[in-house]
Amino acid sequence: MTLNHKITGINAREIIDCRGTPTVQADVWVDNVLRGRADVPSGRSTGSHEAYELRDGGPRYAGFGVRKAVANVNTIIADALLGRDVTEQRAIDRDIIALDDTSNKSRLGANASLGVSLAVARAAANTLNLPLYRYLDSASHILPVPMMNLINGGKLSSNDLCFQEFIMMPVGATNFSEALRMTAEINSILRPMTAERYGKLAINVGDEGGVVPPIVDVREALDLLCEAVSRSGYAEHIVYAFDCAATHLYDPKTRKYTFEGKELTRDEVIRFFQDLCAEYPIASIEDPLEEDDYEGFAEIVKALDGVQIVGDDLFVTNKERLAKGLEMNSANAVLWKVNQIGTLTEAMETAAMAFRNGYGVCVSERSGETEDPMIADLVVALDGGQIKTGAPVRSERTAKYNRLLQIEEELGSAATYAGRSFRRPV
Ligand code: PGA
Ligand code: ZN
Repeated sequence: MTLNHKITGINAREIIDCRGTPTVQADVWVDNVLRGRADVPSGRSTGSHEAYELRDGGPRYAGFGVRKAVANVNTIIADALLGRDVTEQRAIDRDIIALDDTSNKSRLGANASLGVSLAVARAAANTLNLPLYRYLDSASHILPVPMMNLINGGKLSSNDLCFQEFIMMPVGATNFSEALRMTAEINSILRPMTAERYGKLAINVGDEGGVVPPIVDVREALDLLCEAVSRSGYAEHIVYAFDCAATHLYDPKTRKYTFEGKELTRDEVIRFFQDLCAEYPIASIEDPLEEDDYEGFAEIVKALDGVQIVGDDLFVTNKERLAKGLEMNSANAVLWKVNQIGTLTEAMETAAMAFRNGYGVCVSERSGETEDPMIADLVVALDGGQIKTGAPVRSERTAKYNRLLQIEEELGSAATYAGRSFRRPV
């Protein structure tokens, strides 16, 4: 069945993301009207199994230009999709995948395929006069817990903190807008506290908007965050999370991790987290081990009963990698980043597979974002229950939070805040 809303134009352009690095923006025209536009995000702390991001090389933008990906949209992809019904998302994505015909989208570039895939979804929703989340799932109603990365480390910062993200989750808020208010208030307590203790340079922000104090010790950073939370008076409503991005802390030659400047074996890493979880109310840990250690991820799930263990570089939003994880009980949640896989349909299949098997789904930004708020609609469409989209500052982060406020208002009494059920929202 087709609704006969034909794609009459597809074109892309090179724009820049929040780091000033080029990325792809794609437009989709339906019945000769521009109906959908989407920007492609980009990671810095990437997993090696992610879909391929096509960059031009050469002198322009230090090699990071995306003119080749743009040209692929404007020629190969556009030629194939003109005249198609814009609501046929799955068939369109299938055809983009077939056009590329590689296992990691290296021919056309995942940045080319994803730009079109997302712009098609948005164009279809706009053509039907529906908000994107409702077009993708008419029953969707869950507002996610914002996983607020208030202290940045690792590859997303200029300090020597080993973990990339120190996150607080306002699970005890009664709705999304209250959750956002709590976190913004906590952040405004944390910033002067950090400046007072570590000097004014410490409150420059990292790639995801968190402060970057010159701290090495994980507990010291956590204590700083906990103190800001305690001063806010919201402590009973808050739990904590990390993204360790441990692939980047791992040396395959020695098979050891460098945490806080010390070398640790896998068993010592697991012990480190057991101790930490005994001391702090930690609800979620992302990538505690390197990206190919399925066995270690299974061990850590057993060792940290009740804690969400999220696979980002481990699963890269890829169904095959998730299937292996499900078989081995590696992790119990998937980080969900559309550009890791390159089409919306494939990403949604990965989320469905995760939910069917009792895994959580944490929708995530990339460190390189634009002002496009798309993932706010996507997390609601999935009833995902949790979103990682940085601190409540910098417009490329606040665009997502502000879009969630709009969605909460639109849903009215139908909106349900995921709260403490963020792993299995109902
Ligand atoms: P990235 O960082 O977007 O640079 O990969 C975020 C993350 O690892 O979750
Ligand atoms: Zn991560």
